[in-house]
Amino acid sequence: MSKPKLLTISGSLRKGSFNRMLLGEAERAFGDAEVTRADLNLPLYDGDLEEAEGVPSAVQTLAEQVKNADAVVISSPEYNKGITGVLKNAFDWISRVEGMPFKGKPTVVMSANAGRTGGETGQFMVLSCLVPLQAHVIPGPMLCVAAAGKEFNDDSRMTNDHYLKVLGGKMDALRAAT
Ligand SMILES: Cc1cc2nc3c(=O)[nH]c(=O)nc-3n(C[C@H](O)[C@H](O)[C@H](O)COP(=O)(O)O)c2cc1C
Repeated sequence: MSKPKLLTISGSLRKGSFNRMLLGEAERAFGDAEVTRADLNLPLYDGDLEEAEGVPSAVQTLAEQVKNADAVVISSPEYNKGITGVLKNAFDWISRVEGMPFKGKPTVVMSANAGRTGGETGQFMVLSCLVPLQAHVIPGPMLCVAAAGKEFNDDSRMTNDHYLKVLGGKMDALRAAT
């Protein structure tokens, strides 16, 4: 049997992003898979750009990655208690691509933030945005990593057993949904 295709999406573009680190842990917890890491460095959605040039190739690539994935994991910080601009922009572009790439896609959402609520408010906004995209969001306890700077070591590994346990449960459920 071929390996499941796992797509990970970080709502932070930062190289040293704690959400990227959390996605690394998610990849390990998910187990054997063909992993693709999405690149959300996309032009800003602009209806004029779309009309003049069509959907940009970087967006087409992302939409194909979503469409071809068996499972998707999104980890994003909240910015000012909301969804990050890059993640919202990616959702807006994806919604303009034919074929509803997220429709029925088993998807887990989580967040890591410096603050003490771990990005919970922003995570609710991410979940709201996935409703019109018709993603199949895997239910379960929310994973909101608070004070993220204290929860990863120098090797970018999560050191908090509670978070790792919640993550493990979420990845088991995601794998089972593929
Ligand atoms: C524009 C901006 C807004 C932020 N807003 C919040 C916030 O609402 N809540 C919070 O806990 N941290 C907030 N932070 C701090 C982030 O949690 C912190 O920078 C975190 O490391 C970002 O995630 P990353 O490491 O994946 O890039 C904000 C940071 C930035 C740059």
